[in-house]
Amino acid sequence: MSVNRPLPHDAAPLHVTGAARYVDDIPVPVGALHLCFGLCDVARGAITALDLDDVRAAPGVVAVLTADDLPLGADCSPSAHDEPLLATGEVHYAGQPVFLVVAQSHLAARRAARLGRIEIEEKTALLSIDDALAANSRFEDGPRIYTKGDPAATIAAAPQRLRGQVEIGAQEHFYLEVQAALALPQEGGDMVVHSSTQHPTEVQHKVAHALGRPMHGVRVETRRMGGGFGGKESQGNAPAVACAIAAARTGRPCKMRYDRDDDMVITGKRHDFRILYDVGFDGNGRIHGVDFTHYTRCGWAQDLSLPVADRAMLHADNAYLLPHARIESHRLRTNTQSATAFRGFGGPQGVLGIERVIDHIAHELGLDPVEVRRVNYYAEAGSDDAGALSAPHAERPQDFNVFPEDISSRKKTHELRDADPTSRGAVEALPEGRVAAAPKGAQTTPYGQEVEDFILHGITDALLERCDYAARRAAVAEWNARNPVLKKGIAFSPVKFGISFTLTHLNQAGALVHVYADGSVQINHGGTEMGQGLFQKVAQVAAARFGLDAGAVRITATDTGKVPNTSATAASSGSDLNGMAVKAACDTIRGRIAEFLARYHQARPDTVRFADGEVRVGGEVYSFAAAAQLAYEHRVSLSSTGFYATPKLAWDRIRGAGRPFFYFAYGAAVTEVALDTLTGENRILRADILHDVGRSLNPAIDIGQIEGGYVQGAGWLTTEEVVWDEVGRLRTHAPSTYKIPACGDAPEVFNVTLWDGENAADTIYRSKAVGEPPLMLGISAFLALSDAVAACGPVYPALDAPATPERLLRAIQAVRG
Ligand code: MTE
Ligand code: MOS
Repeated sequence: MSVNRPLPHDAAPLHVTGAARYVDDIPVPVGALHLCFGLCDVARGAITALDLDDVRAAPGVVAVLTADDLPLGADCSPSAHDEPLLATGEVHYAGQPVFLVVAQSHLAARRAARLGRIEIEEKTALLSIDDALAANSRFEDGPRIYTKGDPAATIAAAPQRLRGQVEIGAQEHFYLEVQAALALPQEGGDMVVHSSTQHPTEVQHKVAHALGRPMHGVRVETRRMGGGFGGKESQGNAPAVACAIAAARTGRPCKMRYDRDDDMVITGKRHDFRILYDVGFDGNGRIHGVDFTHYTRCGWAQDLSLPVADRAMLHADNAYLLPHARIESHRLRTNTQSATAFRGFGGPQGVLGIERVIDHIAHELGLDPVEVRRVNYYAEAGSDDAGALSAPHAERPQDFNVFPEDISSRKKTHELRDADPTSRGAVEALPEGRVAAAPKGAQTTPYGQEVEDFILHGITDALLERCDYAARRAAVAEWNARNPVLKKGIAFSPVKFGISFTLTHLNQAGALVHVYADGSVQINHGGTEMGQGLFQKVAQVAAARFGLDAGAVRITATDTGKVPNTSATAASSGSDLNGMAVKAACDTIRGRIAEFLARYHQARPDTVRFADGEVRVGGEVYSFAAAAQLAYEHRVSLSSTGFYATPKLAWDRIRGAGRPFFYFAYGAAVTEVALDTLTGENRILRADILHDVGRSLNPAIDIGQIEGGYVQGAGWLTTEEVVWDEVGRLRTHAPSTYKIPACGDAPEVFNVTLWDGENAADTIYRSKAVGEPPLMLGISAFLALSDAVAACGPVYPALDAPATPERLLRAIQAVRG
């Protein structure tokens, strides 16, 4: 079988030899033009004058466009139609594109873009969470609130109570390949766009809008990205739309590749959060009730902020059964880059909130934080405790419509809806049926989904034993008692991550599979490859269906002309969705071949076997190629589409109730760090991870995802600091000022093991999604630093993120009291 095998990434040889083709490597036709945006450097104001004479006169410049040249507006937003390609009168953040230079070379475009003079009447910019709160500047009218049970009363009645807060910084994606697009004008006004995007269908939709054409006039192709990490879910729209508009106007191919500094200044990052908590608990650390307030800085445009903030709320429980909980979420509009999707999509911030609470409780009670985690865990699947623990959902009817009245009664007409229906930003879900409440007595999340597959007790026991946690924790304490300057810290953190798009209808995928007469197989699906190994995993699925080696299967570039109406490759569900769609297409073809061969040999179709590159029927053995050729010669169709829609989902985001997730993925990590208390410098000495990917489609790729996710998560919470100055200009806009983890920052000892199990849910070969969940294991590095700081004095460190050396030094001062 070609699944469950640690095969290398299909493009690994191309990656390491430099032969892998990214958008910028596609040879451009003669006469191609190059684009660059002219940016404003003021965070908020009205454009009073725009002097672009010098830009137009600069060498190599062919055209200069402003918003006035875009009669159709060229909106680039994935949600609220609030992101014009070029500023229209007002500017909303420092770095917003104001004009577009079209020139004969990349350099000529960049040089000319610097020559624009933009006069702006400045207004007071709202930069911080506090600024936005003071001005009541927000998306959605007020906060969104999810409630389970009676948190206020239980917190007040609990034996102990703690309040606190944590600030969580933003994060730059730092994909190695910057945003890029190439538009090739076709006959009759059609357009082909090569785009570095996680969401080719949305680029198609946005380009079609900008050109005033139906979607069938635009074809978008994405071979691969040099990393996306969520930063190419919506942020690729602008360069693609810019290229298409310029190509349509000039009739020439147009290409745009952001300079790295421009990319960092223009595009959105991870949302920074402030989380307030108020928790009531007992002497064992058992949480009775908790109340969270999330303040989310969304930036100037809505983008994907609403579903990101929703997902933060949905992960406020992480691995813990909260009998009574309230989560209040404020989505604040500020004059900064429009924050966007980033690996975990709000989940990591929500998880960090509850992990801070647990850590704080443990410090208060003088308990090992692992013990506090265990007493609060959901019950293990199948255990007697499961079901006995949860408080009933007060005031929650047994069953209710997915659709709150205000939305369901509104859209009675069958008009096209405004927002791109394939975007996660299109938060207005269609009614899909009714949300069934979890069975009485079931253990449920704060949003009412039953947790039926919990396995963290087993994972925790196995990991702690494997990494010798107890002895090492004692050794760390001993070290700290002896060493006044270099302190060590050790921490454990678990993750439970919900898998599915929370906008239910996005959980669908399509595929197109061809078997050629020589027995080679070509597969297409809606997923995009960004380095995560999706293509290889899905090729392994197709090969397994036909009994072939993975090498016999070719995956072509993602193409809106082959598979339509796709969702973004996001929410970690690429292989779940596309694997199933490809399987469906393969099985259709396989069924036809089997049916034909059975007829040919007077055998039963179910006796036809596909294995080891052969097809067996009765006593006959064909090579797969010979079987394909024979089927072709007997006029059997060897091409099929396939489709998959995730079952069981029903979610009401307004009430915060239902089943948003098909299943949960789990994992846990233990990190040990050393901290120099004189300088704040620190280092991860060792990390041990045990992670659940169900029955892995490809253990090598999955382990790579876990390693990368952990390091990216640790980077977010330690060295990666996004800094804006007092007038809202991004000061960290290059690797010189923004520190992502390098090889040398990875743990010196790094043990990653896959949990041996299979998905309880019926997924592709019982595998689980892996893309995002391990990022949250990086939280253990943050908590380990907090543990090291706690060794310096009696006060709880209450560390903010990222834990830069400066913050660590300040925390060390504070804990000394
Ligand atoms: N891994 C690599 N190498 N590069 C990436 O850009 N993106 C992450 C994750 N792993 C990413 C990655 C994000 S944000 C997601 S949602 C998933 O991959 C998407 O791919 P999947 O659904 O196929 O897992
Ligand atoms: Mo990933 S943030 O869902 O693209």
